[in-house]
Amino acid sequence: MGSVPGEMLAVYASAIDPDDPLRGLELGERPDPEPRDDWTTVTVRAAALNHHDLWSLRGVGLSEDKLPMILGCDAAGVDEDGAEVVVHAVVTSDSWRGDDTLDPRRSLLSERYPGTLAQRVMVPKRNVLPKPPELSFEHAACLPTAWLTAYRMLFTRGGVVPGMTVLVQGAAGGVATALTVLGSAAGARVWVTSRSQAKRDGALALGAEQAFESGARLPERVDAVMETVGKATWGHSIRSLKPGGTLVVSGATSGDAPPAELTRVFFLQLSVVGSTMGTRDELERLIRFCLERDIRPTVHRTMPLAEARDGFRELLEGDVVGKIVFTN
Ligand SMILES: NC(=O)c1ccc[n+]([C@@H]2O[C@H](COP(=O)([O-])OP(=O)(O)OC[C@H]3O[C@@H](n4cnc5c(N)ncnc54)[C@H](OP(=O)(O)O)[C@@H]3O)[C@@H](O)[C@H]2O)c1
Repeated sequence: MGSVPGEMLAVYASAIDPDDPLRGLELGERPDPEPRDDWTTVTVRAAALNHHDLWSLRGVGLSEDKLPMILGCDAAGVDEDGAEVVVHAVVTSDSWRGDDTLDPRRSLLSERYPGTLAQRVMVPKRNVLPKPPELSFEHAACLPTAWLTAYRMLFTRGGVVPGMTVLVQGAAGGVATALTVLGSAAGARVWVTSRSQAKRDGALALGAEQAFESGARLPERVDAVMETVGKATWGHSIRSLKPGGTLVVSGATSGDAPPAELTRVFFLQLSVVGSTMGTRDELERLIRFCLERDIRPTVHRTMPLAEARDGFRELLEGDVVGKIVFTN
């Protein structure tokens, strides 16, 4: 597949369905990216799957008028000059200066511009970073979304420093595994929760100091909580914090309707802090940190892009530990 001139194999959304996201998932030929000034075409060697791709198929962050839309935020590949690169997924407006994630007009690849689950993706030249040879394409492709989000949650938004105790809600997810590995590598005491014993054991192997059942009472209160689960764990997150503690939230996988627990928030002077993706500079620092500490992202499974439907189904079923990566 992908052999017709001017076309390439791609995984794209052809319809939106909030209840059955896989209904609109298509694998087939799409037109090659049109060249644009100051953008570069990256030949994708590896692209990682994110929960974001399921949200897109449900219509969160992607509207009907943008269809068909190639999915995917994460990629590592080779640019037009033959350089091995990692793609930063946050596309800002040309005139924006400052923190990439705060541009009101910023979008992630696959929201306004075609995404990375394809043989080729076009991105602004400033959105490619050198891929160090020590990192495989598969590992590098895991960094720009889940791992970058975890990096910003911990160190930029959460102010995590060595010796702090940090609770990570969920153990097996892409962001959760990154939080566990990065937090413990940075000298924090990382505690995790998970619904499954196997996943709790997995988190201990990744560096967590203790692992608890979701909702369990903790031996003591923590300095910071990292939240991506939302409704199912929000109350537990608030109750687990020390006075003055910080809750960093970047996702709401189980839904967005928790009681806000306002009395605890003001009485214990808690900080509730939002976090989204990360900047190009943070991605650069994340890559350096991974090299310095010999960290490699946890990969659940690598499969050819042509088998992407299986990967999406597995992520939807929730039995994934770390990242699913597609290769070309
Ligand atoms: N704001 C941003 O920039 C940003 C960036 C990346 C991701 N996100 C969001 O963050 C969330 C996680 O993303 P991901 O890619 O890591 O997803 P994922 O790989 O599918 O992981 C989902 C996680 O949620 C936990 N979980 C799900 N349902 C739960 C429930 N009912 N009770 C307890 N735990 C539950 C799972 O924990 P166990 O299976 O271990 O129990 C797992 O750790 C998504 O909603 C995503 O959209 C946001």
